[in-house]
Amino acid sequence: MKSKKETQIKKVVGGKNNMSIKYVCTECGKKYDSTTQIFRCECGGVLDLESFPISFSPSEIIKNEWSLFRYLKALPFEDDFDLWKDVTMGEGLTPIVPIDRNNPNLLAKVDYMMPTLSFKDRGAAVLIAQAKAIGVKKVIQDSSGNAGNSIAAYAGRAGMACDIYVPEGTSEKKIKQITAHGAKIHVIKGTREDTARAALEAVEKGGGFYASHVYNPFFYQGTKTYAYEIYEQLKGDVPEILVIPVGNGTLLLGSYYGFKELLDVGLIKKMPRIIAVQAEGCAPIYKAFKEGRDSVEEVTNSGTLAEGIAIAAPKRGKQILEAVRATAGEIIKAPEDKIVEAREYLAEKGFYVEPTTAATYAGFMTYYKENSSRMCGKILIPLCGAGLKAN
Ligand SMILES: Cc1ncc(COP(=O)(O)O)c(C=O)c1O
Ligand SMILES: [Zn+2]
Repeated sequence: MKSKKETQIKKVVGGKNNMSIKYVCTECGKKYDSTTQIFRCECGGVLDLESFPISFSPSEIIKNEWSLFRYLKALPFEDDFDLWKDVTMGEGLTPIVPIDRNNPNLLAKVDYMMPTLSFKDRGAAVLIAQAKAIGVKKVIQDSSGNAGNSIAAYAGRAGMACDIYVPEGTSEKKIKQITAHGAKIHVIKGTREDTARAALEAVEKGGGFYASHVYNPFFYQGTKTYAYEIYEQLKGDVPEILVIPVGNGTLLLGSYYGFKELLDVGLIKKMPRIIAVQAEGCAPIYKAFKEGRDSVEEVTNSGTLAEGIAIAAPKRGKQILEAVRATAGEIIKAPEDKIVEAREYLAEKGFYVEPTTAATYAGFMTYYKENSSRMCGKILIPLCGAGLKAN
């Protein structure tokens, strides 16, 4: 029997239909069919999914599905959509545990416990399921490594050919993993932005579907399950603070969308504050935030151990700033000289993470030491990438 509250929620939000959901340009508002292989607007703007009604209540979680597709009701797919079954590897449902038992409010979500050892599997599983639904045979993607690992694995599983572009200097282990999944690797000289340009060129020449975690809105539908999981695991006792590493913002925006939906359907009472962490050597969003600007200007990457968040020109910078500000959040920097120490500390506590994840922890702990007296409630930090992936 459904509770009165759940029945009410369902009545208010209604149903949804994947095939009729449109892409909408964040710059000019033009709409496109989401069943096409377009990846950005003709004006150059990035695309979002048009808002769609969510039908979600705790009773609608598919309790016997041990992957993020247990939240199918909250995803932009029809109820009878089942192509995800060809794709899923049980991603999601990662543990939430205290980093140290003496501080039960400081929690880690161990999001490297994923099929390819990073949180990017959330986005890749949903993106590739959608790509399969629209008949994609070959994908192209560029990344600092982890998203490339995820897309390579899920594309391979779905029977698609795959080309992954990474910048020179990417961890050898990530490159090995990408090729192990059958993808063709392109190591590009120059910056992360040069890598993105090379992938785009291949897409524009008709080389394949751009399965980009930066551009493709379905990726963010996958990362939004981070919020639904937290809601389910903490039984609605939402953290006061979500600490989130930010480069291109896939986890940050996904979490924001997820919690916003939970707020809109009345399942939570307030949004967690987002404290976003950038690398000291490459912090364009931090800079814009501190300067009170609404958009992000490209910076020069002066070098950082946190390769996963070293994005000098984030395409969704404006949206990231809006999301952080909407939660009364904050953007902080991870001190470069604390990353190795943080990695060792987390390993002592049992968590072997990659440097980008250690940077998230280092950044937050520096902030926490100065501000903990003003903080109450639960703080949740994601451990996004496994240590075995780093050289
Ligand atoms: C381990 C790790 N943490 C955090 C991030 C940041 O994710 P995003 O660039 O989507 O903000 C990445 C991205 O590759 C990553 O690999
Ligand atoms: Zn446009």
